[in-house]
Amino acid sequence: MLMKSSAIAHSNIALIKYWGHRNKISPELNIPLNDSVSMTKYGLSENTHLQAHTTIEFSEDLKENEAILNNRLLKGRDLERILKVINPLKKMKKIDYNFKMVSFNDFPTQAGLASSAAGFAALTLAAAEALNLDLTQKELSTVARLGSGSAARSIHGGFVYWHRGFSHETSYTEQICDPEHFDINAVIAIIDEGRKDVTSDIGHELAKTSIFNTIRVKKSHEQAKEIRKAILDNDFKKVGMITEKNCLYMHTVMMTSEPALFYWNPLTLKIIKKVLYIRKSEKIDCFFTIDAGPNVHCFCRPENVEYIQKILLSIEGIEKAILVKPANDSYTTNEHLF
Ligand code: DP6
Repeated sequence: MLMKSSAIAHSNIALIKYWGHRNKISPELNIPLNDSVSMTKYGLSENTHLQAHTTIEFSEDLKENEAILNNRLLKGRDLERILKVINPLKKMKKIDYNFKMVSFNDFPTQAGLASSAAGFAALTLAAAEALNLDLTQKELSTVARLGSGSAARSIHGGFVYWHRGFSHETSYTEQICDPEHFDINAVIAIIDEGRKDVTSDIGHELAKTSIFNTIRVKKSHEQAKEIRKAILDNDFKKVGMITEKNCLYMHTVMMTSEPALFYWNPLTLKIIKKVLYIRKSEKIDCFFTIDAGPNVHCFCRPENVEYIQKILLSIEGIEKAILVKPANDSYTTNEHLF
């Protein structure tokens, strides 16, 4: 039997951030300190849909594991991360075959655009399908989490809630509502497409060294519940205000960790100020959020998205501004990459 399958998943942007693990349970499981909420995103430009496309095949004829991402052969830590997802799936199927994986991201890898979220969600779905495991989306989300925490949220489309849980089975994601329910778009101002200086897994470890970590976790947990209701109520202003606050809580923790983490650069702050100006002076509803990188996501209603893009592109140093809308669920496809 041919054990080969392909899947596509989209990246996501957190409205309520995941930053820091509950290490006491098991550092390997990526169990977060607080519930988080995200929007799975679909890039509207022709060549950038912010998606990962992955094909995987298992076979007893393969002499060794082979994983290729964007034409690069993965080794060491990168390959180990892939195995964190593959090994539990092989165990469920009770087989021990090697695999070949080929994956492409259509956007910058490790630049704070959640490329690993899309990548590990696509990998989990493709591998579970290739092994004919028939897992629910909830189960898929727990496996994707083992590769990259935020990947658990990219299994679903639209707006997604991650229950932090207290064990492998109870730390899972579910959809809050589908992409059509909440009218929102975003423009991502690309400041830097390079790889981040400090990867998220190091940052998750440092979170607990900040004196603001405990309060951030408590507030984020509350905000996750509040924002879920605001999304369901289509309350754009409330979603925006909670999102901005939550982003600043996370960056406060980052900046006050030991050693301190600064993901912003001067252009990041310039864009934050621009968003605040547009909101106050032009009375256009828009708000910002920033992940573990300098790039800024500016959310707005769909009718304002081109105007916001124009303004961001007029800022010196911003050459790229990607339009996004909420994406659909991750899905399998017959388009195999090998
Ligand atoms: C700041 O551990 O999921 O984006 O695996 O490096 O992509 P990578 O990141 P992950 O941490 C994500 C942290 C965050 C906030 C969030 O997405 O909730």
